[in-house]
Amino acid sequence: MVKKKNIVTIDGPSGAGKSTISKMLAAKLHYTYLDTGAMYRVVGLLVERSGLDLEAENTGKKLKQLLDTLDITLASGEEGQETRAFLNNEDVSDAIRTPEMAMVASRVSAAPEVRKKLTEMQRAMGNKNAIVAEGRDMGTVVFPDAKHKFFLDATPEERARRRHTQFLQNNQQVEFEEILAQIQKRDRDDSSRSLAPLKPAEDAVVIDSSEMNIEEVVSFMLKTVHQNQK
Ligand code: DC
Repeated sequence: MVKKKNIVTIDGPSGAGKSTISKMLAAKLHYTYLDTGAMYRVVGLLVERSGLDLEAENTGKKLKQLLDTLDITLASGEEGQETRAFLNNEDVSDAIRTPEMAMVASRVSAAPEVRKKLTEMQRAMGNKNAIVAEGRDMGTVVFPDAKHKFFLDATPEERARRRHTQFLQNNQQVEFEEILAQIQKRDRDDSSRSLAPLKPAEDAVVIDSSEMNIEEVVSFMLKTVHQNQK
């Protein structure tokens, strides 16, 4: 397999710092940043608004029809801000960034129709641009031929602390314990689903960021990419 030098994948559980780090790394490399979690959140919103119950039987066809109407546009947010997302040209950036929508996104992400559709969209973006792709299955499923793969982890408590700070900064009042419980549930669900579960690719460099700051992680990644590129 010829490895693609212009694709960097960063996978890991929620709150490990993937978004901030991926965005900074993309800027330093002059690559496009691809926030695939935002895509799953947009699909979560679409499914929720449609009233479709994914737990019910035989929803596959309806889900596929719904996905046929899907148009997602992502735009890099301002510095320190998360990706802006548009669903069929409507700005849904705020609507997708709630703790509830994170859980909905995790739920819809287990549906094979959803994974197939988003995997296709993500690969199309990777074919067009040099990218830093952030998610859960970037190195394992979507871009197995990427030359540079990272798996970014941190303890659940540290990740919950970071998420909690983010919510407070956005004036969203959420209890720390609630965030920790949601992170633990999402870890369990995302890692145990049968399709594209959250796990490091065999050839990924695993980084535990619990005791590292953002700059340290980014500079380690940059050094690794430059070394691999030779
Ligand atoms: O990274 P995030 O918190 O925005 O992701 C929201 C959910 O989307 C996450 O719990 C699982 C799902 N997801 C996925 O299954 N595969 C990806 N590549 C990215 C996200």
